[in-house]
Order: sequence, then structure tokens, then C-alpha cells
Amino acid sequence: MNSKIKLGILGGGGDSLIGVLHRIASSMFDQFELVGGVFNPELKESIAFAEGIGLSTNRIYEDLDSLIEKEKSLPENERMQVISVLTPNFLHFPMAKQLLENDFHVICEKPLTTTYEEAKTLENLRKKSQKVFAVTYTYTGYPMVRQMKEMIAAGEIGEIHKVDVQYYQGWINEIIHDKEKRSSVWRLDPEKAGISSCIGDIGTHAFNMIEYLTDMRVSEILSDLNYLYEDNKMDIDGTVLVRFSDYAKGIIRSSQVATGEENNLTVKIYGEKGGFKWEQENPNYLYFMKEGQPVELLKPGHPYNSKISLDGTKLPPGHPEGIFDSMGNIYKGVARAVRNENFHTGEYPDLREGVRGVNFIEKTIESHKNGNVWVKLDN
Ligand SMILES: NC(=O)c1ccc[n+]([C@@H]2O[C@H](COP(=O)([O-])OP(=O)(O)OC[C@H]3O[C@@H](n4cnc5c(N)ncnc54)[C@H](O)[C@@H]3O)[C@@H](O)[C@H]2O)c1
Repeated sequence: MNSKIKLGILGGGGDSLIGVLHRIASSMFDQFELVGGVFNPELKESIAFAEGIGLSTNRIYEDLDSLIEKEKSLPENERMQVISVLTPNFLHFPMAKQLLENDFHVICEKPLTTTYEEAKTLENLRKKSQKVFAVTYTYTGYPMVRQMKEMIAAGEIGEIHKVDVQYYQGWINEIIHDKEKRSSVWRLDPEKAGISSCIGDIGTHAFNMIEYLTDMRVSEILSDLNYLYEDNKMDIDGTVLVRFSDYAKGIIRSSQVATGEENNLTVKIYGEKGGFKWEQENPNYLYFMKEGQPVELLKPGHPYNSKISLDGTKLPPGHPEGIFDSMGNIYKGVARAVRNENFHTGEYPDLREGVRGVNFIEKTIESHKNGNVWVKLDN
């Protein structure tokens, strides 16, 4: 019998947005057992939070240093094996670095780091440590996203000529137009979030989605960003032209001031034989389009879906799969990798995708600041 993988979490306390998603997703396939962590910067708050979720408080630590010291003193079969980093962006690098240096597997939120140099440092460290390192580009876990990836790889839409990914939210309107508020949230503070807000937070998901689905690498980009106010240091809207080659091009449209939009990630991929359309807010519907033919609507759980898509569907067709399931599928892939089982490379986004994401963020800012010019990515 497999024992559960012991999981620790950094960040994700009661006041966080993303903590609940990781906790539920990690428990979904009965592969992980959350045993402790550092949920908040204050020990008292971490303990209160652990008590609130019915978790024993004996492995709740003051900080990462004490977590590492105590966990490493435990017998190997009791120790935390995987640690999820769910803190604000600027802490991802120092925490992930320390975890790799101390032989833990890592699951890290995006953006991987706040600079490309840091991301490359982690890549080099991981080469030495050979640990599993996932970056949670959450939307890659949806069954119909995985289905689209498989159908593109099988040549169902032919050679790709155009990609169009939109990620629109409107939540920052409530903050950005008020001078006091816009100087008080970590997402608009370069010290905590890195050099970008909109592109760093959601443009990076759109970029990852393009490369995940097409298995092609963007070679260069040109961006036009909007900062809206003189005193605001972070982009809150941006349009990015992307080029794979002279014959395959596209666009990333992302915004945090798209008034009234919630979490509208919409992906469109067009090839010479067909096209796909998928929307995160209706994730169970994948539209397969061909010239002159009725649109086909593909849904999860049916035998016509690929193995990797079906692997992430737990119930028969008609039982909607949502964001928790999508993240659950990523944790399932990580569990297979940690256990050295066979897994499909599309089952979880690896550190490499995180490094690509940070390269994209830096180059997008560079393109805008240099007068909206074409900039090559590191390929
Ligand atoms: N994959 C996704 O779709 C997705 C969605 C939302 C957020 N995120 C990412 O998740 C990360 C966290 O975002 P959020 O919205 O949950 O932020 P948040 O501000 O809501 O929560 C951050 C949490 O980290 C804790 N924290 C801060 N400093 C800490 C420290 N030193 N030690 C331990 N805990 C600490 C805070 O107390 C809080 O509980 C960000 O990097 C963000 O980009 C990813």
C-alpha cells in the first residue's frame, strides 16, 4: 500500500486567496496528506489557522528555517516530502531555493520568481538536486484543455497559424483609481510583486497556455502596456503580439481593468484544417471548428477523449469539472513524479515553464519601455 505523500504549505493562510484551492486540490486523489507548514508570517496566526482547519499544530513552524531544521531531524518516512509555496511573489525565489538546497520537492505558485536571473538560478539548482518542481499554471489541469493539447499534437487542426488568448479581469478597478488603495496592495508594489502586475499575474497564464497547448515556443514579442496613473509603477493592462515564426503569429490580450469581467481566460487556436475555442468560465465545453461544417462541442468524460483528459475526470459525463479539479489533476501528476511512476509531461507544469514565464514577463516590460519594439525571448 502506498502511504500518502507528506505535504507542507508556505503561505495560504486564512486571509489568502489561493490557499484553499491548494488544500482541497492536494487531497482530491488521496495522494497527499497536509502535515503542517508556515501559513502566515506570524506564528500565532499560523497556529490559529491550523486549529481552524482541524490540523495538528505540532508541525506549524515560525518560519522556513525552523521548518527545515525540524523536518530534517525527523526519520525520512515521517518528513515532509513536498512543499507548496503560496506566498506573495517576492518570497517564491528565496523559499524555493532553500527548499531545493535542502532536498524537498517543490510546488510553487506563478510567477516563479520576480527576476529571470533568479528563475535561471532555480533551474540550475534543480539540475543538481533532481527534485520534482512544479509551477501551478492552474488552468493546464482542465480535462478539456488537456484534450485540446492532445488533438493539436495529433494534427487535428493541422499546422498552426494564429493564436489568440485573452485574459480579462476587472477587479483592480476598485483599487487602481484610489491613490491610497493603489499604494497599499502587494500586487501593485514592485518590491513584493516584481516588475509587472497584469502581465506577471495573468498575462503569464495566457503565455503558458499558448506554449502548453501548441508545444511551440514563442520566439519574439512586442508589447503595449497601460499603467493608467503616473504614480502607478505596475502595468494593469497589456496587449502583446507574439511570433513563433514568419508564418505562425498571435496575440495575448490581458487586463485587470476590463470592467465587469471576472476571470475571463479565453483561448483560440487556429490551424490550416481547424480551430479550437475554450473559455475558463465554461471549462467543460471545447469547441472544435472546421470550415463549412457544424461546430463540434466536446465535453469531459466521454470515451472519445484522450487518456490524459480522461485521467483527470472523476465522474461520468455531465458532472462539471471546475478549478479545484484542474488543480487536483496537477497535484496528481506531481504525486506520480514524486513516486517515480510513469507520467505524461503534460500532467503538471514543470519548473521549465515557470522559467519561460518569467522570461516572457521581463521581455514584455522591456519591449514596452523601449518604445514598443520587437524583443526576442531566450530560446
Ligand atoms: N495559479 C493561480 O491561478 C493563482 C491565483 C491566485 C494567486 N496565485 C499566486 O499565489 C500567490 C499568493 O497569492 P494570493 O492571492 O493567495 O495572495 P494573498 O495575499 O491572498 O495571500 C498570501 C498569503 O501568504 C502569507 N504570507 C505572507 N508572507 C509570508 C511568510 N513570510 N511566510 C508564510 N506566509 C506568508 C499571507 O499571510 C497570506 O496568507 C501569488 O504568487 C499569486 O501570484 C496564483
